[in-house]
Amino acid sequence: MFITLEGPDGSGKTSQIKPLAEFLREQGYSVITTCEPGGTFISDQVRDVLKNLKNKSMHPRTEILLFCAARAQLVEEIIRPHLAQGEIVISDRYADSTLAYQGYGHGYDLDFLKNLLDFATGGLWPDLTLYLDIDVEEGLNRRRVGGGEWNRLDDYALSFHRRVRCGYLEMAQNNPTRWQILDACQSPHEVQDALRKAILKKLPGETLHT
Ligand code: TMP
Repeated sequence: MFITLEGPDGSGKTSQIKPLAEFLREQGYSVITTCEPGGTFISDQVRDVLKNLKNKSMHPRTEILLFCAARAQLVEEIIRPHLAQGEIVISDRYADSTLAYQGYGHGYDLDFLKNLLDFATGGLWPDLTLYLDIDVEEGLNRRRVGGGEWNRLDDYALSFHRRVRCGYLEMAQNNPTRWQILDACQSPHEVQDALRKAILKKLPGETLHT
């Protein structure tokens, strides 16, 4: 099963993924986690280029191709081989981030991007996408006060981040079979609980584990 976590910046995905994987391992599942952009030696180098604040002159088309390049390597090197072994793969962001940020955010054609993403991933899309929803100002504020990294993409205008969030909500509402919307403003404990429940509901043998 291929599970992705998505959300605007500051939605708290990254701190949820480790306890989530540990919980599923305790339930007897074999789980690996990964994070985008990055996750392989090559993809991590592309990540540095994408996030570096010195690269503010990067054209959105360059940005799209770099995200896709990093993802193509991650899919072939990590995601597909682990799925082939019957493991659960959980990725912190994936192709839907490109649709949200580069599609809805920058305004690039969604059908064109979907074709490009099919090319980059060899047509691999998640079985379940958990979307952590948060008001964009609150999310960015969490990033600012959290003392973590402030990267080139965080630095885009507030209007860009608002389009990203609307895009996510539209994608989630259009495909409720794959997407689940979770409220990221709850306490971290409540968010973790909601993530676990959403996954267990989708896993075969669910009744054995709940
Ligand atoms: P993060 O590692 O803090 O989530 O930062 C990744 C940033 O890159 C975040 O602002 C979302 C953005 N992003 C895109 O714009 N397109 C993509 O395809 C991906 C994976 C991330």
